[in-house]
Amino acid sequence: LDNGLARKPPMAWMSWQRFRCITDCETYPNECISEKLFSRHADLLVSEGYADAGYEYIIIDDCWLEKERDNKTQKLVANKERFPSGLNALADHIHDKGLKFGLYQDFGTNTCAGYPGVINHMALDAQTFADWDVDYVKLDGCYANLTDMVDGYPEFGRLLNATGRPMVYSCSWPAYQEDEGQMPDYESLKKHCNLWRNWNDIDDSLESVMQIMDYFSKNQDRIQPHAGPGHWNDPDMLILGNYGLSYDQSKLQMAIWSIMAAPLIMSNDLAHVRPEIKEILQNREVIAVDQDELGIQGRRIILRNDIEVWRRPITPKTTSGEYSYALAFVSRRTDGAPYAIKFTLQELGLHNDGGYDVRDLYVKTNNKLGVFSASSQFATRVIPNGVTFYKFTAL
Ligand code: DGJ
Repeated sequence: LDNGLARKPPMAWMSWQRFRCITDCETYPNECISEKLFSRHADLLVSEGYADAGYEYIIIDDCWLEKERDNKTQKLVANKERFPSGLNALADHIHDKGLKFGLYQDFGTNTCAGYPGVINHMALDAQTFADWDVDYVKLDGCYANLTDMVDGYPEFGRLLNATGRPMVYSCSWPAYQEDEGQMPDYESLKKHCNLWRNWNDIDDSLESVMQIMDYFSKNQDRIQPHAGPGHWNDPDMLILGNYGLSYDQSKLQMAIWSIMAAPLIMSNDLAHVRPEIKEILQNREVIAVDQDELGIQGRRIILRNDIEVWRRPITPKTTSGEYSYALAFVSRRTDGAPYAIKFTLQELGLHNDGGYDVRDLYVKTNNKLGVFSASSQFATRVIPNGVTFYKFTAL
């Protein structure tokens, strides 16, 4: 969507994957979907250094609404017990921290969790979002007809735009189409949305991360070309810092999401992210790959002996127009020892005459591997279900 927003994949924190629809604030005061949760995370995004690393949006997902609209005005109402100060006050707090405010709604009659959706009140709701100082809208697709989405999602985008308030527009419509075996119209998505969920929800496991990777690599010919500044594919949230991924698997998700130019939307409890995981989430060089200004999404280029090679063209480009590259080697193997594998740079599609200066993005000291010419070999050793991640700077 050419609205001047999301020129790089949005970086954010969002409630869903970690906090789902916990609404019992008496039993779970620190976890329930409430203004406390979001103002706490706005504070933590800044105090724990995430904001400095580029994370910017605090996004409320499902379960923030009252079960009914306001009787008289038909406006949406935030749950009065859990958001007693109202969304404007929360937006102010988030903005005072230098951050931006995102809010979830659903195109259908109801959100997936059963709260009122926008379908018969689109203009009113778009205006209400603007009045609440919202900067980012995630529009889900439960309880809706697929056929209505084709015009309905663009229409809601136009209504958001008509409020005059700039709002990033995240569309879930292709995920619902894929679910029903329909082919999403990527040209329309590019035109009408800043990002879109292509496929299934992520869960808190490596298996889920791998399924998403498999979906994106299997379908890369029809998905990958559509990403770029202002319009991104969204493989769903980062689950680092939760229960399901080990330290090394956390590196894997972060590396592959960066290769995919994915929105970096964490969903975790920022008060309880271990320091070594926080370091991965804030790894400046990895984030720089994700946020690379060319905005070209990467692809899986090789699958050999259960080792996958993922490659993304990035800056700097040489004067003769050769790209630099980020390269991730993922092992799907489980046979114990780290697996050693070699590729010529040519096999990796790297042909620059001047060669490449190679750095390991996950090693802090002595991470410079030296200069490799296009005719030389590159060796790496990948642990089971692990990743190695390098930047090849064209010289
Ligand atoms: C389905 C979406 O894909 C999830 O990300 C989340 O927003 C839930 N719905 C909320 O009900």
